[in-house]
Amino acid sequence: MLKGKHIILGISGGIAAYKSVSLLRLFVKAGADVQVVITPSGKEFITPVTLSALSGRPVISEFFTANTGSWNSHVDLGLWADAMVIAPATASTIAKMANGVADNMLITTYLSAKSPVFVAPAMDLDMFAHPSTRRNIDLLRSYGNHIIDSPAGELASHLVGKGRMEEPERIFEVVDAFFDKEQDLKGRKVMITAGPTYEKIDPVRFIGNYSSGKMGYAIAEECASRGADVVLISGPVSIKCNDSRVRVIGVESATEMNEAAQREFADSRCAIMCAAVADYAPAQVAAAKIKREKQDVPTIVLKKNPDIAAGLGAVKSDSQILVGFALETDNATANAVEKIERKNLDFIVLNTVTANSGFQVDNNQISIIDADGKKNDYSLKPKREVAKDIVDHLVEKIKK
Ligand code: CTP
Repeated sequence: MLKGKHIILGISGGIAAYKSVSLLRLFVKAGADVQVVITPSGKEFITPVTLSALSGRPVISEFFTANTGSWNSHVDLGLWADAMVIAPATASTIAKMANGVADNMLITTYLSAKSPVFVAPAMDLDMFAHPSTRRNIDLLRSYGNHIIDSPAGELASHLVGKGRMEEPERIFEVVDAFFDKEQDLKGRKVMITAGPTYEKIDPVRFIGNYSSGKMGYAIAEECASRGADVVLISGPVSIKCNDSRVRVIGVESATEMNEAAQREFADSRCAIMCAAVADYAPAQVAAAKIKREKQDVPTIVLKKNPDIAAGLGAVKSDSQILVGFALETDNATANAVEKIERKNLDFIVLNTVTANSGFQVDNNQISIIDADGKKNDYSLKPKREVAKDIVDHLVEKIKK
């Protein structure tokens, strides 16, 4: 999919710069036209000769060529690019990008770029974990840049943790997939619920669950990359959505999630109910913190929360598709089928909870059961691939 695409490969000064050579090779082999822009310190790690030989273009680093007076136009470059990929992106480059510190050609080009921008951070684990880096990465995300998150592993310092640059093959895959995605959800609004809900007991305590939101967020990103207009109604989670095209509505309780879902479902083509909604909430929320010494062991009386999926199922039109999730520990298929009927779903995704699949982990093993009882079993996969299987199934239903 990258054939003929114009890619700016931005390289900043980190040890991972040597991996940029492999990334450049992958882009060139795929038929992309690559212009390397390197920071002055990037050249300490990798030579422009290698990069220009492989890209077939002179490497750009300085604003001016001193002996000829010719200058490089970052504005033209920014307009030329179909994508800008900054790998490695050091803490310093990320900070400059986040704050518009335009003191080198890479940053001026970034600030002029009209294309999607992909950023692969690379630094030592303490720098990566530092609040300033976290904030700067969040800022880049909020500008709509695609962050290719750092995987955990051994770093150049021999310390083990997050901070190393993602492997070139994976960075290539992410960029390629961005262009490869068939826009089969273009013009369609998809509503997704994700994460847990928190039900207040008093101002400092709540009833919640272990849902991380990872599955719902992966589905939202998959739908957005396929052209959908995505609204993600999310309970409290610690993850961030990596796709700026997704509109995120943050909620806390099941009641808040229900209100947002009812409002957003009205003009949605599909809804995917991924949230682990608390079935019960305290009937009374204590106005002040419940004190240990002032009373005997308190009894918390619960009331039923609304069943959000069932509520939407009751008002669903023929053209709307409603997808549920089921997390079962016993009689899984029978329970899932019962939920399809009770909630008027078009299909349900049955989740398996094991040490490697389900809550809090990055993998999931699912089965999809249709309203007519047809069941498809899938193997254990990373959640972003599971998201693709689910969205493929959804698209099949839409086409029918
Ligand atoms: N769901 C919902 N609102 C609720 C409870 C569940 O929208 N109050 C949705 C979930 O997001 C999921 C599906 O319904 O898509 C099934 O959730 P689950 O918790 O398995 O179903 P329950 O109806 O709560 O049944 P039980 O907990 O008894 O298994």
